[in-house]
Amino acid sequence: MNKLDSSLVVAALKDIGFQITDKPTLADVVLINTCSVRGHAENRVMSNLGHLKHLKQSKPNLIVAVMGCMAQRLGSELLEHPAVDIVAGPAQIPQIPEMINDALNCRINSIAITEKIRARHAPAENKTLDDFELAYDTDENHISSQAFVRAMRGCNNFCTYCIVPYVRGPEISRPPHAIIEQIKKLTDQGVKQITLLGQTIDAYCYDGDERQYRLADLLEMVHDIDAVKWVRFITSHPGKFDPAILNAMANLPKVCPYLHIPAQSGSDRILKAMNRKYTSAQYLDLIAQAKETVPGIAIASDFIVGFPGETDDDFAATVDLVQKARFKNSFVFKYSPRPGTHATKEMEDNVPDEVKKQRNIDLLDVQNQIAEVDNQHFLGKTMEVLVEGLSKKPHLNKAENDNNPQLIGRTATDYIAVFNGPEELAGGFAKVRITRTSPLTLFAKLI
Ligand code: 5AD
Ligand code: SF4
Repeated sequence: MNKLDSSLVVAALKDIGFQITDKPTLADVVLINTCSVRGHAENRVMSNLGHLKHLKQSKPNLIVAVMGCMAQRLGSELLEHPAVDIVAGPAQIPQIPEMINDALNCRINSIAITEKIRARHAPAENKTLDDFELAYDTDENHISSQAFVRAMRGCNNFCTYCIVPYVRGPEISRPPHAIIEQIKKLTDQGVKQITLLGQTIDAYCYDGDERQYRLADLLEMVHDIDAVKWVRFITSHPGKFDPAILNAMANLPKVCPYLHIPAQSGSDRILKAMNRKYTSAQYLDLIAQAKETVPGIAIASDFIVGFPGETDDDFAATVDLVQKARFKNSFVFKYSPRPGTHATKEMEDNVPDEVKKQRNIDLLDVQNQIAEVDNQHFLGKTMEVLVEGLSKKPHLNKAENDNNPQLIGRTATDYIAVFNGPEELAGGFAKVRITRTSPLTLFAKLI
């Protein structure tokens, strides 16, 4: 979501003549997009602002803009920071180019955030955001031939640890015709894979004049666009997952059989304290149903370790769930108290940091052991990948007489495959044979 917001603003700024540099010392404007989901992300922004404060001493005309969730959360407090000239919340990104121009021309500091973040946005504000996305969502923004398209904004779930509902506002599903128009524009530019985005994408629900559209309907509409070759969606909430989505995945060949559906914990007591609205048994039932309906589906999860009151037994229940679910991969986070959330107000952050760290390591170990075993099933198999481009270490694994660099591609099931091949393959599909596996990567040979 943040990468998408950044790319939209970059495209809008390029449109009025700005160029991008990755060196703050060369820049007239530094724009920081921010995430509030964990304290660590916010601390990094504050430390960046500290550096920029120093840079401003030698470059007094430098403009520093802070956008995104932290801007929404801290508002005027952030504007008081000596480095900051502009503060813009996630719903105000269309205003950023004008705010930057004002700051450059007239040295006016400005702030634009949503006053009452949980109030329903005015339709005009949604329209402005939709128009901004349509205008500035270009293929240049993305990994070649892939695009992220927002289907929803905001969240209504109020998981007790989570700041998202307080910084991104209430759940709003974009009109399907706006999403489809945007996708057609992107495919005209060569995009082949669409990833629909939403904090709880499975709750997508748009009431049109004549009918209601849910995610399964939207997937079908995207699937109908000829030039779309793969469509995926992130992230799902297991609470009220609509089985029609699984049927859509099973019946529509271009819908990738991949589900990112965070469990967060395997302990029913903790799930309740998190306000997740399901039990571990219900979660496992859903996973079983997904595996049955969609053969070969890959499932990924997120976990928070060290939630207030999490005991060794609670953590053991999480390990147990991971062992039963056999995820493709799991993202594990140490609980980080976020200001204003129910967990911060009502519960003590009482799991010591060393325990959180150890549980984080232990859970990843369990996950890695599972992936190590399960990934071996891919050995010798031929898989189709969408090639993203050069791997981070393109010089590695050169076979004899093979002068091609190492490329990275992703399967429909979201596995990362690395293999040697000509760089020109980037943005296209390729068939590879898996020759070696590790918990996170498939090593392959181009066919
Ligand atoms: N502390 C730690 N992790 C968190 N997440 C969300 N809020 C917090 C928090 N306060 C994690 C969840 C979510 C992912 C995006 O970030 O696992 O799925
Ligand atoms: Fe946060 Fe829960 Fe909403 Fe996800 S579903 S964004 S964890 S409140």
